[in-house]
Amino acid sequence: MSKKPDQKLIMKRKAAAEALKLVKDGMILGIGSGSTVREFIKLLGDSKIDSKTIVCIPSSFDTENMLISNGMKVGTLNQYPAIDMTVDGADRVDKDLNLIKGGGGALLREKVIAAASKLLVIIVDDSKMVQALEGSFPIPVEVIPHAKEFVEKELLKLKGTPHLRKASDKLGPTVTDNGNIILDTDFSSISKPEELEKTINNIPGVMENGFFSRKLVAQVIVASDKEIKILKKE
Ligand code: 5RP
Repeated sequence: MSKKPDQKLIMKRKAAAEALKLVKDGMILGIGSGSTVREFIKLLGDSKIDSKTIVCIPSSFDTENMLISNGMKVGTLNQYPAIDMTVDGADRVDKDLNLIKGGGGALLREKVIAAASKLLVIIVDDSKMVQALEGSFPIPVEVIPHAKEFVEKELLKLKGTPHLRKASDKLGPTVTDNGNIILDTDFSSISKPEELEKTINNIPGVMENGFFSRKLVAQVIVASDKEIKILKKE
């Protein structure tokens, strides 16, 4: 029996193929995490680009494994602290190109890699696009385990509702690649996202949160079943 192709996967692949057009021989490439980025890595591995000349800086263990299995050269951010371009996915993108990321739990390294990049290119299918971020997706907050209860109380004071992210194939919490836990925090109202980002990161014990300001983003490639749109900041 033939299986109907997964429409969302087709859109993710279309967005990834568009991003691949931006890759040039000799680049230091930051590589985000998630299922859309996995499509990008597969296309990168199969492309005519001379993979020996490209160094990929992964944002997670999952991405590192995927890069190695697709024949790509992997380096560390300490070896290559200036990245030419990073390609990453997102959980939500608003009309101004602010993002929520971290659905895959890799937000801390993703934000560091984004900040170290000349260009951050986001690839998404159109289900990720929203008018406003508030209420659309919980903001993942990466926290050292020691500070869980304290940070939860502080997030409640900010009118957030934190939920400890559970692991799916083990008992207990999701533990990030950095040995931390994640508090997925619902905010019904976010009037000033950049202020909230800073306020959350100022809580002792918080390592990073999944709000990514438009300042970091160069372009968002959005694939729908009909077309590809390239959104750039005005
Ligand atoms: C991981 C991320 C991912 O980019 C985000 O969760 C989107 O993933 P997917 O492409 O699987 O929808 O931020 O931390």
